[in-house]
Amino acid sequence: MSLRIDELSSTEVKTLADEFETAPLQDVLAWAWGRFGSLAAIGTSFQGAGLAMIDHAVKAGLKFPIFTLDTNLLFPETYELKQRLEAHWGISIEAVQPDLTLDQQAAENGPELWKKAPDTCCTIRKVLPLQRKLAGLSVWITGVRRQQSDTRDKTRILELYRFDDLRELFIAKMNPMANWDRDAVWAYIKANGIPYNPLHDRGYRSIGCWPCTHLAGSGENERAGRWTGFEKTECGIHTFLGESI
Ligand code: ADX
Ligand code: SF4
Repeated sequence: MSLRIDELSSTEVKTLADEFETAPLQDVLAWAWGRFGSLAAIGTSFQGAGLAMIDHAVKAGLKFPIFTLDTNLLFPETYELKQRLEAHWGISIEAVQPDLTLDQQAAENGPELWKKAPDTCCTIRKVLPLQRKLAGLSVWITGVRRQQSDTRDKTRILELYRFDDLRELFIAKMNPMANWDRDAVWAYIKANGIPYNPLHDRGYRSIGCWPCTHLAGSGENERAGRWTGFEKTECGIHTFLGESI
């Protein structure tokens, strides 16, 4: 269930966010599990930060539900990685599906919507399914890092958002990896033998749906290669909630 404001106030969130800046990752995760249990869930796209975070949770025995937004347009390597990770950690990862199949989307909006209107495609295939998922949660745990882009450099480790104005419901968003840098993430993954997407070794920096992910040069920003040719830099899942309160 989403949160009522008396369950977690904006003042408490700000105090905790400050404390979490210097706390070990497992302590931050343990707070969420201790307070909210399985009403706190990890959303992952199987990229570096998410993998390092899940590994900490699994090793600490924190049994958060884990989900991925399956747009039906992920790379075959990503679907295969999901299975490898489930076997590696002995867990299952929910694949949250859009309401429309790709055929239904093509029938309603025309073929290859991502070429004409990627925002609409992301809304149908990621944002709406995420909203449906979050309606049953109190805390959404992500792998967002400040270093990823200018739009993410103010990310706090714990944030509170309005979720449903009419019913006065809120959702906490936890970004425990916010202050990790790319090198630290990858050093952890390699040191702990965590399976990762082989596309990273082929030069892909940020990996999403296959039609919207391209090879990027190593000098470019961390999320270069996503939606090349469009002004777009965010799919909407990290912007639809508006400003944190
Ligand atoms: S995205 O907005 O461009 O897709 P990015 O790939 O940088 O995001 O990932 C940042 C964080 O967003 C991930 O660590 C994860 O928490 C969340 N996220 C991104 N894509 C998905 C997805 N397909 N399913 C679940 N969570 C996702
Ligand atoms: Fe569609 Fe591209 Fe968004 Fe994936 S990233 S949902 S293919 S527009």
